[in-house]
Amino acid sequence: MEYIENINVDNKRVILRLDLNVTIKDGKILDDTKIKKGIPTIKYLLNHNANILIMSHLGKIKTDEDKKNNSLEQVSYVLSELLEIPVKFIKETRSEELINSTFENRVTLMENTRYEDLPNKCESGCDDELAKYWSSAGEIFINDAFGTTHRCHTSNYGISKYLPSAYGFLIKEELNGLDPIVHNIEKPFVVIMGGAKVDDKVALIESLLKECDYLLVGGGIANTFLKACGYNVGNSLYSSDYVEKIKTLLDMHKNKIWMPVDVIIKSGGEINTVGIDEIPSTGSIYDIGPKSVDIYKKILKESSTIFVNGTMGLYEDESFRNGTENLYKALSNINATIIAGGGDAIASIKNLGYQKNFDFLSTGGGATLEYISEKKLKCFGEN
Ligand code: 3PG
Repeated sequence: MEYIENINVDNKRVILRLDLNVTIKDGKILDDTKIKKGIPTIKYLLNHNANILIMSHLGKIKTDEDKKNNSLEQVSYVLSELLEIPVKFIKETRSEELINSTFENRVTLMENTRYEDLPNKCESGCDDELAKYWSSAGEIFINDAFGTTHRCHTSNYGISKYLPSAYGFLIKEELNGLDPIVHNIEKPFVVIMGGAKVDDKVALIESLLKECDYLLVGGGIANTFLKACGYNVGNSLYSSDYVEKIKTLLDMHKNKIWMPVDVIIKSGGEINTVGIDEIPSTGSIYDIGPKSVDIYKKILKESSTIFVNGTMGLYEDESFRNGTENLYKALSNINATIIAGGGDAIASIKNLGYQKNFDFLSTGGGATLEYISEKKLKCFGEN
């Protein structure tokens, strides 16, 4: 597939896939980096007099409640502010208005592509009929959603089968930034992995473990690792379906995987630091503890390449920020190539003010992990 400068987009009706999967909390967009990163491609298309229908996913859609919580409507207002032109928001993922939008509006944003996952996974199952239908809204397809390049879904891959297609400027920027690192990873290579759930990271963790020297886990995903080692995690969320798999990975990679040895818990309104063998059944884990931070810092100090994906705890709350913040702080004294990827990692790094400690910030979390471990990305095919 070509890059956008190599195909004719003049006066065309263009479908543009962006990754606008931003974190929204209490109705507020926590970090707009991903939205801003889509602007150069939109502006280029507008300068070439194209009309644009933008598509993106937001979160995962499994229930009607998920739909309510993951609408892109708010993102359309931010896009409009950044572009300083009206952005038409279309609430349906199938309608006559949608298909005609590229005749009528300069810029349209369609509702979350994953609304199509309920009930039949038409988006994430790369449904061919939906691909054909969506492609009928444009003449050209531009994919600039780097964050989903590790997925072959209808909106980022299926449509490309039916329209002349090209990649946008963000994908170019990401590959330019990542290629020199990914194809020549200096060892020791350490991955700091946090975030809420282990579920859709297990396959990536498995292949990453072949590549990295140490995997330091924190955040919600550490709960499943602790559970797999037989610790009581109290009321903390963990992924019961993946405990056995994590046990196997721990057996296979004993010396690579490092888990917290202490954690910050909240129990009955009280916040305490406890060892992982002292977590009360009423407690919930919200951060890694100071001893864990010290151990992780020692490993980081010896490393030559570091990749950060996800946070060590609920950093938005001051009481549970230390794990994440102290590791970011420690990176300033380390002579390594340091990259971070994923919406939550970038939001935390920017909100806490540690951008200067990183060599490259990628909008892709899963995508970057897959690129590091597999050296290719699914939605690019074999090349
Ligand atoms: C991300 O935030 O990593 C991307 O937007 C991909 O999201 P997904 O894991 O829900 O596909």
